[in-house]
Amino acid sequence: MIDTLSRAASALLPARTALAFAEGGGLWTDVPLFPESASTTAGRVDALYFYLIGITIFFSTAIFLCLFVFAVKYRRRSESERPKRIAERIGVEVFWTAVPLAIALSIFGWGTKLYIDESLPPADALDVYVVGRQWMWQVQHSEGRREINELHVPMGRPVKLTMTSEDVIHSFYVPAFRVKRDAVPGRYSTEWFQATKPGRYHLFCAEYCGTKHSAMIGWVTVMTPADYQRWLTSGTELPVGAEGERLFGRLACGTCHGPESTDRGPALAGLFGSVRRLQNGRSVIADESYIRESILDPNAKLLAGYPAVMPTYRGQISEPELLLILAYLKSLDVETLAGGAPK
Ligand code: CUA
Repeated sequence: MIDTLSRAASALLPARTALAFAEGGGLWTDVPLFPESASTTAGRVDALYFYLIGITIFFSTAIFLCLFVFAVKYRRRSESERPKRIAERIGVEVFWTAVPLAIALSIFGWGTKLYIDESLPPADALDVYVVGRQWMWQVQHSEGRREINELHVPMGRPVKLTMTSEDVIHSFYVPAFRVKRDAVPGRYSTEWFQATKPGRYHLFCAEYCGTKHSAMIGWVTVMTPADYQRWLTSGTELPVGAEGERLFGRLACGTCHGPESTDRGPALAGLFGSVRRLQNGRSVIADESYIRESILDPNAKLLAGYPAVMPTYRGQISEPELLLILAYLKSLDVETLAGGAPK
């Protein structure tokens, strides 16, 4: 069956593509109708897409068929002809309201499920930090390696990207993985995927971001876990947590946020992910965005029991550096430190 299809397609397609078929390429990889599928979500996104196409084709065909049949069957045959009065039929009304509603809701339900699954990274995902700027992607791996317009990832393991931008909105788009999410200045967004096939895949910026937007492209390299490990350890950079600790020292954050809590600022061990009580009586979870805000705009959310004495670090710390500090704070586990539970 596939053979017959391939042969039929080869007869119809230009020589280069036909050659690819002869060399054993598949239907979907050689005709640039669909990008390659190289992640666990790719097939699921395609399935929903085919469902939408199927519905569209079915109804377009049905509507045009009815149009032609009715135009012929119910055409006016004489000048004096008057149409018969048609009685309302509630059953028909209910039918053609309920069926489209059910179809629309099935699309909504399916799409929502997929969106939620694509939005929630698994807990064991590998952390990678991405900063977009005009016009490049800066990538920072937890273990230290840094890259520009390149992203190396292991196969078969979920990878979570924590992204932000230094200037305007960009969008991190890997068609082969069927993932795309905006990198927005002033906040963190996340994107995750699990690659299923080693290879090199296109990476695009999918949000118009200035004159060289179209040059903001790169490659995602998917490697076997062993190759990835080798690649990861071949760099000379420090792990991000250690880089962050060094920066923490250079900015003298420890003066107020030492291992022991001082009266000027709280100790930071176990901070990440904990619930913080604020002076205004509210509580917040210390996530990436909260920590970022507290460094750049310390008075935005004042912690209960501490004075408003922290200066802003806006202008003194770049987005990649903020991510280093974040990685350092994430690495400060309560159990590994004598600092005790967070205040
Ligand atoms: Cu960055 Cu378009």
